Amino acid sequence: MRGTQHLETRLVHAGEREPVSGARATVLPIYASSTFVQPSAAELDRAFDEDGLVYSRHANPTVSGFEAAIAAVEGAVGAVAFASGMAAVHAALLAAGTPRGASQPQPCAILAAQDLYGASRTLLRQFFEAQGWPLTFCDMTDLACVEEQLRSQPTIVFLEPISNPLLKVCDLPRIVELAHAVGARVVVDNTLASPIVLRPLEHGADLVVHSATKYLGGHGDALGGVVAARSHLLHDTLRRYAKLLGATLGPFEARLLSRGLKTLALRVRQQSANALVVARWLTTQPRVRQVYYPGLETHPQHRLAAELFGGLFGGLVSFDLEPATPAAAYALMDSLELILPATTLGDVYSLISYSARSSHRDMTADERRQLGIGDGLLRLSVGIEDVRDIIADLEQALQRVA
Ligand SMILES: Cc1ncc(COP(=O)(O)O)c(C=O)c1O
Repeated sequence: MRGTQHLETRLVHAGEREPVSGARATVLPIYASSTFVQPSAAELDRAFDEDGLVYSRHANPTVSGFEAAIAAVEGAVGAVAFASGMAAVHAALLAAGTPRGASQPQPCAILAAQDLYGASRTLLRQFFEAQGWPLTFCDMTDLACVEEQLRSQPTIVFLEPISNPLLKVCDLPRIVELAHAVGARVVVDNTLASPIVLRPLEHGADLVVHSATKYLGGHGDALGGVVAARSHLLHDTLRRYAKLLGATLGPFEARLLSRGLKTLALRVRQQSANALVVARWLTTQPRVRQVYYPGLETHPQHRLAAELFGGLFGGLVSFDLEPATPAAAYALMDSLELILPATTLGDVYSLISYSARSSHRDMTADERRQLGIGDGLLRLSVGIEDVRDIIADLEQALQRVA
């Protein structure tokens, strides 16, 4: 029938769905297709049941490639990708709150780290707690506090092994052990560490979340999230929720994130090496009151971090300015010429953010003070530039603060 088709018909069908014999792309192509044709109606029917290629909200080959790479890197049975890190956090908590054998989440108690990323904390408060999920926060670096809170037998423990912005490090293996002893599932937001610094599933965690927007992508050009699961049950639950909630990753972003992953180890090693040099240099600066970096011997959890992270300490360095005022923080940010004042982290570029007015802006000043986030606190995401240029930029900007 093809030879008899009219112009309008040819315009929409020609060149599509042609099997390309012998073409083996070296990278997974972008399948910019919202839906998929199966060889027969019976096979389409089967594909619905078997999570096959039916519709891109269910599965898309480019996205599946990214998910397979994450599962391989984190040591998971599978991973599910989302449109953003927040969508991934939301789905991970819903999956962790779904009892074995149940088809839907049921309100259950969450024990969360007090130092979570600001929007995650707000999500817990405004969605989960508001819908009847009992919520308690605790300092995950204080094991006595964790043990005490676990007595009430929460269903979910949610934490970040490196906290934002104060870069505290918690004893993940011990917390997992304690949480599992009371039957809780452990959900770890591993965004700040990246799988190069820490792989929480190796320490027994149940679900690992990433804002892929950060280190995984690493180039500031794609928003995405991903959850890696320890068990088939949790993986299947995540997939089901992803289909229903619909915040799934698009194939173009999946391609960019997969491309980013290829250099993840190189980037994180360079960022960690640069960050250590920058952190040490900052400790010598009169305009800097305190430096927070787990790689510094003076950091309260330095020994734990050295054991857990295999010699890398990540690319984030936070510091308190002297004077600790918003005016001084703004003056520094406005004086930087290389380091970009932008709200993200983990990119190849060095970035700086003022936590009180970015990641933690939804908190009251009192809440921030209780967490130790002062008015002079800045968070630096160290990039892969030559570290001498990063330091030169900080040096000239600190002089202008003075
Ligand atoms: C630790 C952490 N988790 C989750 C998120 C949310 O990720 P996204 O911005 O991709 O939604 C962020 C974003 O900054 C983050 O830093």
